[in-house]
Amino acid sequence: NKVVLAYSGGLDTSVIIPWLKEHYGCEVIAVAANVGQGMGELEGLEEKAIKTGASKCYIEDLTEEFVNDFIVPTVKAGAVYEGKYLLGTSFARPVIAKRLVEIAKKEGADAIVHGCTGKGNDQVRFELTIKAFAPNMPIIAPWRFWELNSREKEIAYAEEHNVPLKINRETNYSKDKNLWHLSHEGLDLEDPANEPDYDKILEMGVSPEKAPDKPTYVTISFEKGVPVSIDGQKMKPVDIVYKLNELGGKNGIGIIDMVENRLVGMKSRGVYETPGGTILYAAHQSLEEITLDKETQHYKMQMGIKYSELVYNGQWYTPLMEALNAFVDKTQETVTGDVKLKLYKGNIMNAGMTSPHSLYSEEIATFGEDHVYDQADSAGFINLFGLPIKVKALLDEKKIK
Ligand code: ARG
Ligand code: SIN
Repeated sequence: NKVVLAYSGGLDTSVIIPWLKEHYGCEVIAVAANVGQGMGELEGLEEKAIKTGASKCYIEDLTEEFVNDFIVPTVKAGAVYEGKYLLGTSFARPVIAKRLVEIAKKEGADAIVHGCTGKGNDQVRFELTIKAFAPNMPIIAPWRFWELNSREKEIAYAEEHNVPLKINRETNYSKDKNLWHLSHEGLDLEDPANEPDYDKILEMGVSPEKAPDKPTYVTISFEKGVPVSIDGQKMKPVDIVYKLNELGGKNGIGIIDMVENRLVGMKSRGVYETPGGTILYAAHQSLEEITLDKETQHYKMQMGIKYSELVYNGQWYTPLMEALNAFVDKTQETVTGDVKLKLYKGNIMNAGMTSPHSLYSEEIATFGEDHVYDQADSAGFINLFGLPIKVKALLDEKKIK
């Protein structure tokens, strides 16, 4: 009688430990994932889990896997949910859930427990991945049926059961942090009429108003769509993300305020900080402008919408996802080169790019004299391209007369 719990050390997953023991009389194994949220959140976590009643606490470092197998493919796909959200929480769930299953199997656990509410996306993302790797594993989601259905009740229960807590009551946004992003939801943000108080909210950087008056230049190099260096210095993708977070954060880049459509039907308002990710997407997209042919580039943009929905909905381990990744990888064969960007008060401006596979031809595009493009060809092209417009106009003329 043993369960594995997705544990973060926050209020919800802490209270769940004594609650599980009380209601199921089971042994609780806590599993915390390091997805780059920072030592602040991981420090003392094992001790805390044990004090709260867990028999064991795993702290799993998933940062490299998260970046290489989830973030990089999504950047290559150019996937952005509803045109704004860079999916920071979404793709952290499958990487965590996959490890939960591995540990649950190793420990011979009877169920996996998570602390997601029944109103959100995260529950879906966790459970779809659990189903993909352990189709018969029972899943317990206490939020759907327990009596602790408010923060106040949770805190009271925690105090009764000697759960160590560190919460400051005023600034309790619902946050989710990893090396890609930090999300903020709840409190005053729940009303979209309210402007976010960025001085209070921002943690990964500053607002554009507080950014320096001088721009920062950065050059990012890609090989087949994968970021490989910054300013000529070879780095692992995970270190590139950390470095770009620093540069983007101090220049006020990557702050998104949006109302999004959750998978479960409701609209919800969130503020996201994705400083490095925003730079990486911009650089990658710029490089595709010179390295992809028009048809592939356009088709890939449409595919990116579908890809973002799969990531958002937690459909990571699906046949369609595999197929889309194969398509993306094919398109990325020529996406190699250097992109120089100017970062300035929340803006990202192109400052020059080069690629050995560039399809851009100055010789053809020039406004000067050229020997490749015969301007006389245009007349016939426009006659045929415009034929449907001409036919319709002629018919309309007849109807009016
Ligand atoms: N709305 C975003 C998403 O669905 C962020 C969710 C944040 N999750 C959380 N447990 N605080 O991806
Ligand atoms: C939750 O409801 O557990 C967090 C928000 C979400 O999953 O969308």
